[in-house]
Amino acid sequence: ESTVQSRKGSRAPTPPPAVKGIGKKVAKPDYSEQKIVVAMVGLPARGKSYLSNKLMIYLKWLEYDVKVFNVGQLRRTRARQKAQQYADDQSCLLDRQLMNPAPRLGIKEDHTAAFFSHDNPDATLNRDKLAEDSLDMLIQWLKEGGNVGIHDATNSTCSRREKIQKRVAKEKGLTLIFLESLCDDPAVIAANVALKVSQGDPDYKDMSPEDAKQDFLKRIREYEKVYETITEPDLSYLRILNVGQAVTMSRINGYLQSRIAFYLMNLHIKPRSIFFSRHGESQYNLEGKIGGDSLLSTRGMQYAKALPALITDNIGDKPLTVWTSTLKRTIQTAQYLSFPKLTWKSLDELDAGVCDAMTYEEIEQAYPDDYANRDEDKFNYRYRGGESYRDVVVRLEPVIMELERQENILIIGHQAILRCLYGYFHHISQADLPYIKIPLHTVIKLTPKAYGCDEERYTLPINAVDTHRPKPKTAQQPTVNSSSKRRYFVEEPKTTE
Ligand code: F6P
Ligand code: PEP
Repeated sequence: ESTVQSRKGSRAPTPPPAVKGIGKKVAKPDYSEQKIVVAMVGLPARGKSYLSNKLMIYLKWLEYDVKVFNVGQLRRTRARQKAQQYADDQSCLLDRQLMNPAPRLGIKEDHTAAFFSHDNPDATLNRDKLAEDSLDMLIQWLKEGGNVGIHDATNSTCSRREKIQKRVAKEKGLTLIFLESLCDDPAVIAANVALKVSQGDPDYKDMSPEDAKQDFLKRIREYEKVYETITEPDLSYLRILNVGQAVTMSRINGYLQSRIAFYLMNLHIKPRSIFFSRHGESQYNLEGKIGGDSLLSTRGMQYAKALPALITDNIGDKPLTVWTSTLKRTIQTAQYLSFPKLTWKSLDELDAGVCDAMTYEEIEQAYPDDYANRDEDKFNYRYRGGESYRDVVVRLEPVIMELERQENILIIGHQAILRCLYGYFHHISQADLPYIKIPLHTVIKLTPKAYGCDEERYTLPINAVDTHRPKPKTAQQPTVNSSSKRRYFVEEPKTTE
C-alpha cells in the first residue's frame, strides 16, 4: 500500500508580482582534487571494455571528467601511421628513381595471434611501449584537469602492473586502482568472443568471421600462458567475477574510490528490459500548469487502464516491478498493473519552487529574467525555492544504482525525471538532456546491450497534450548519440490542443 503525500497541493494560480529575476545558475561541483588512474586487468574477452565504458558513463553522469585510454586503439592508430609513412617513403623513392608517379605500396603490421605471444620479443616490447605511452597520455590528461583516466589494456602480468605502479607513483596526487575482470562462465566468454567478431572489430576487418573467431581464441590462449591474477599485496584493487557476480576488493579508500566500487558491485549483465512511462495525462497537464499533485484527466485514466495490456504483451510472464513517485498521478497510472509496486520520493517531479502550479506563460510574466535564464542554461538553472536538472540528477543517483542492480523494471515517472534517467542510459549531454522528448501516453522500452541500449517506443492511441517546450532557437540544437541504436515501432503521439 503506497503512502501518498501531497507536495504542494492545489495552490492558487495567481502569479506573484513581477520581481527583477535572479535566476540561479548552479555551478558544477569542484572535483579538481580527484585524480584516479583505473588500470584494467584481464584476459581478452573478459568484459574489460564493457566495464570501462559503464564506469565512464556513470561517473560522467555525475559530472566527473572521465576518459578511457584503450591500448588496442593506440596500437591500430600507430600501425596505420607507420603504414602510411612507409607508403609515402616508397612513393618518394620511386618518384626520384623513375621520375614517374609511383604506385603506393603499403606495409601492414601483423596483429594476428602471434603478435600477442610472449615468445615474440619484438612484439612484446612493442606492446609494452604502447601500454606505457598510453599511460603517459592518460597521466598528462589527468594533469590537464581530468578526474578519472581508465587504462583499458590487459595488464595481465605482475611486471606490467609494477611498471604502472612505478610510473603513477612518480606523480603527486594520483591514486591508482586496478580493476580485474575474471570470468569462469563459458557463456559470458563465448558472448564476448562473438561480440568481438560480429561487431566488425578493426583487428579482424579483413578476415572471415570464422577465421577471426579462431584467431581471437588463439590470442586468448597466448595470454593465458602468462596470465597472473592480482596477488601483489600492496596494490589497491577491485576484482569482479563474471561481470557482476561477485566483487572482492583490497585497499580501497576514499569517497570516489568507494563509489566506484559500489557501482561495480551493482552491475550485472543478465538480459532484462527497463520500461519508462510518464503518468497518464493529468489535470495540470490539461491546464498547462507545471508541478503540483493533481489527479489524472479522463484521457489519463484511459491510459492507466490500457497500460497493463501493453506491458503484459511485452514482458509475458517474466517478473517485473513497478516504481512510481509519491505523487498521485503516477500512483493512479499504476493502479491497474498487477505487479509488485514501490513508491520512491526520489522519483517525484523536478521541484519548480515558487513557480509550482503556474503555466509557462505565467512564469514568463512573473519572473521574466528567471524564465530567460532557464532557457539560456536549462540544466543548471535552479528554480527559486526549487530544483535544477543537476539537483535532480544528484537525487536520482540511488535510483540509478538500484536500476543497475535490478532486472525488469517499469518506472512510471515525470517528464524531467525520465529525461534524467533516459539521459544516463543513452549518454546524453547536459545541454540536450532537458529537451529530450518523453511524450505522454508512450512507453519507452530500453534493452541494455554490450555498448548502449536498444530502444523501442510504444504510443497508445489515446490523445494527450504536448508538454514539451522546444529549445530556444538561439541555443544549440539537440544531437543524437550515435552509439545508441534506436528503433521506433510507432509514430510520435498525435497531440491535440
Ligand atoms: O509539464 C509537466 C512537467 O512534468 C512539469 O511538472 C515539470 O515542471 C515540467 O514538466 C518539466 O519539464 P521542463 O523542464 O521542460 O519545464
Ligand atoms: C591490445 O593491444 O589490444 C592490448 C590489449 O594490449 P596489451 O595486451 O598489451 O595490454
